[in-house]
Amino acid sequence: MTRNIVLVCVCVCVCVCVCVCVLGPSFCLGVGPLLTYGQFIWTGIGTASNYYNQKYGDIVRVWISGQETVILSRPSAVYHVLKSSQYNSRFGSTPGLQCLGMHEQGIIFNSNVAAWKIVRSFFAKALTGPGLQRTMEICIASTNSHLDDLPHHTDAQGQVDVLNFLRCIVVDISNRLFLDVPFDEQQLLSKIHKYFDTWQTVLIKPDIYFKLKWLHEKHKAAAQELQDAIEELIEKKRTQLSQADKLDHLNFTAELIFAQSHGELTAGNVRQCVLEMVIAAPDTLSITLFFMLVLLKQNPEVEQKILKEIQTVMGGKKLENSDLPQLCVLESFINESMRFHPVVDFTMRRALDDDVIEGYKVSKGTNIILNVGRMHRSSFFSSPDQFNLSNFDKMVPNRFFQPFGSGPRSCVGKHIAMVMMKSILVALLSRYSVCPKLDCTVDSISQTNNLSQQPVEDEHTLSVRFIPRSTHTHTLQEDPGTHS
Ligand code: HEM
Ligand SMILES: *[C@@H]1O[C@H](CO)[C@@H](O)[C@H](O)[C@H]1NC(C)=O
Ligand SMILES: *[C@@H]1O[C@H](CO)[C@@H](O)[C@H](O)[C@H]1NC(C)=O
Ligand SMILES: *[C@@H]1O[C@H](CO)[C@@H](O)[C@H](O)[C@H]1NC(C)=O
Ligand SMILES: *[C@@H]1O[C@H](CO)[C@@H](O)[C@H](O)[C@H]1NC(C)=O
Repeated sequence: MTRNIVLVCVCVCVCVCVCVCVLGPSFCLGVGPLLTYGQFIWTGIGTASNYYNQKYGDIVRVWISGQETVILSRPSAVYHVLKSSQYNSRFGSTPGLQCLGMHEQGIIFNSNVAAWKIVRSFFAKALTGPGLQRTMEICIASTNSHLDDLPHHTDAQGQVDVLNFLRCIVVDISNRLFLDVPFDEQQLLSKIHKYFDTWQTVLIKPDIYFKLKWLHEKHKAAAQELQDAIEELIEKKRTQLSQADKLDHLNFTAELIFAQSHGELTAGNVRQCVLEMVIAAPDTLSITLFFMLVLLKQNPEVEQKILKEIQTVMGGKKLENSDLPQLCVLESFINESMRFHPVVDFTMRRALDDDVIEGYKVSKGTNIILNVGRMHRSSFFSSPDQFNLSNFDKMVPNRFFQPFGSGPRSCVGKHIAMVMMKSILVALLSRYSVCPKLDCTVDSISQTNNLSQQPVEDEHTLSVRFIPRSTHTHTLQEDPGTHS
């Protein structure tokens, strides 16, 4: 009898041990933490996460700067974290975030939950409701005015740097929606680009990196440059506001300025919020659209279907808000593109309390990486490793598809992003066929995945031709002019 009890106890203990310990590389006197951290720094967070999930399974424990970090790509585990407010915080190097102005400020990497909540409500207000209503109109107007100005973006060989072109459109839209002051697009974009580069570089660097001035000086300066540019734009907005006699609909920046004058936000926080609102779309949406244009040329029958749908739904009239939900093929295409090649393919969270995820113990303070890109290739989909619209033929329950995350810390711009992508694509595709070089495919473009999946922007690989639809009704097929 007692022997049985002992046996049962031993069994339970063994089981508990097996269940409790998350698999992963071994600690091995501290060599494990060094090696995994090194891998994250050298290959990028996204690339390293994919490596560990592939090697050890869909729940893996590694270390980043000596802190326990769990990488999840199992749909049910990811969903558990997304839903729970226990993971409303993120991780990242404190001096790194300070260098970016993101430490306990702004929204994106603000891990002071109380401060984050206040700021998030301003973003939520600007990105839903009436703001969302005006978005389609502004996107179409901006896309059209940039298309009219296409010669300006075209080089002597007739090539357009399409990623830069899309960034111009997107930053103009963000300005019209959230700021509404005149500015130099190209100059601001270049500063946004350098800020993003700093972000990728400093996010998980060890503290010693920030003690060596010569190492981080250049990056610190790049962050400061964008902050100064944004401060200047806010100053313009302040002047504009003080001179306006009536205030119709307040926009994002105006609301923040008023909140500051009521003592709700500091000037530094206002600047950081505007900065993050301005960089959000150029850093994500323009690159997402870029990969969509490449995928469209790789799948000409999909482009045909989308054009046909646009014609049917619009029927020669102007696009209206009520048309957007009817663009089902376009929506499947957008979904499948974000499933197959998500630009933001992982997100970083931190456990605010002890928890158990799928039987695995996760203690307070553990870093969490949600590897959504890998999760999107689960066997739920009929062709997980293929770009195929059939993957969205049946209803996809949202735990298998999370391009924007969900729950309290999800992408606050998820609804506006869908409206933006649809309107820009409709405006662009109904006027032009966009032709990348023949050998340019999503797989052939070299990419990095430090903070998100970005194409390497070396010379001319991202150049495309814009062929007007009206004069080339057959250009959906391959265009002979695109041979490189
Ligand atoms: C295709 C375009 C976009 C994609 C794929 C995308 C994706 C994401 C993802 C995956 C997150 C992290 C969510 C999480 O941790 O669970 C995020 C956060 C965020 N996104 Fe987006 N996003 C896009 C466009 C936008 C746009 C257009 C805006 C604003 C204009 C925006 C604003 C934000 C903000 C402010 C956060 C941080 C939210 C927080 O931490 O509370 N995003 N986005
Ligand atoms: C991003 O990751 C790549 C490895 O894919 C690395 O070579 C590159 O230097 C990294 N860039 C930054 C800014 O961290
Ligand atoms: C933004 O807000 C200001 C201040 O209320 C207003 O004057 C301006 O017209 C608004 N801009 C847009 C595009 O709504
Ligand atoms: C696209 O994905 C969203 C979830 O992000 C979903 O609500 C929508 O129904 C999907 N649309 C199609 C056509 O599959
Ligand atoms: C897409 O998937 C469907 C269903 O699995 C299949 O019948 C079709 O051949 C696939 N299309 C391509 C282009 O592979």
